Amino acid sequence: SPDISVTNTKAHLDKLQEIATANGGNRYTGRPGYKASADWVKAKLDAAGYTTTLQSFSTSAGTSYNVIAEWPHGDANHVVMTGAHLDSVSSGAGINDNGTGSAGVLEVALAYAASGQTPRNRLRFGFWGAEEIGLLGSKYYVGQLSATEKAKLRLYLNFDMIGSPNPGYFVYNDNPAGNGARDDLTAYFTSKNIATEYIDVQGRSDHAAFRASGIATAGTFTGAEGTKTSAQATKWGGTAGQAYDPCYHRACDNINNLSLTALDRNIDAIGHMVWNYAQKDYADPEPPA
Ligand code: PHE
Ligand code: CA
Ligand code: ZN
Ligand code: ZN
Ligand code: ZN
Repeated sequence: SPDISVTNTKAHLDKLQEIATANGGNRYTGRPGYKASADWVKAKLDAAGYTTTLQSFSTSAGTSYNVIAEWPHGDANHVVMTGAHLDSVSSGAGINDNGTGSAGVLEVALAYAASGQTPRNRLRFGFWGAEEIGLLGSKYYVGQLSATEKAKLRLYLNFDMIGSPNPGYFVYNDNPAGNGARDDLTAYFTSKNIATEYIDVQGRSDHAAFRASGIATAGTFTGAEGTKTSAQATKWGGTAGQAYDPCYHRACDNINNLSLTALDRNIDAIGHMVWNYAQKDYADPEPPA
């Protein structure tokens, strides 16, 4: 597996903080800090050789945008997609929620492009707008796919809050039966001697729209407003009786609101999954719908 650079990922977070600071302190839907975030991510992916689309859609808070990037190699009938929401709430810069997922997915995409790998499958990356006002960007994206395009999507991996300052190591458990990606994520952390817990995140992030369309999903999460138990502090470190992210949806979710250790472990897990699923043999004939 690749070692995804936490230094580069932290530099992406510094840039997202800088964008928020220059635009009234947030990256909220309909505000200039969101569009600047989307333009910046798109430019990085364009420069790395991705085929990118800025997909606009309207919301009650104004126009929002998804950035979609595809690596133009591999079997276009077998698409492995990885995504994160790029918008923040209005109260702050949204560095853990969800600068971490956005920066991590971006760095994995850039590292893959630089790696010289020859993928068997088609890799696609999504940076969603308007998650914070109802998962709107991911819903819009899935909603505009034809049945044919949906059938090509073999896996959607979601990352929302992966650098919480008092971290837990949670693997989504709300997947359709037979989805090996959850188990692959768990096995990866186990191989690094990191204990994980399953969490049923239900409709709380952007994998929900994919899951509702019958697409396999998986993801990781280091915790939001929930409280770390003493048993969790024993196995993971950190502070029992305190929230995983005490700055969740607050102004203090800024560049200081991070565990770089948790972030590094999670971005390496993303890299592991992307590298492996890029080569997965999705044997034809297609499985029944
Ligand atoms: N989607 C939530 C938010 O952005 C956070 C969250 C992520 C909750 C993953 C549960 C699981 O505020
Ligand atoms: Ca790393
Ligand atoms: Zn949020
Ligand atoms: Zn979030
Ligand atoms: Zn096929």
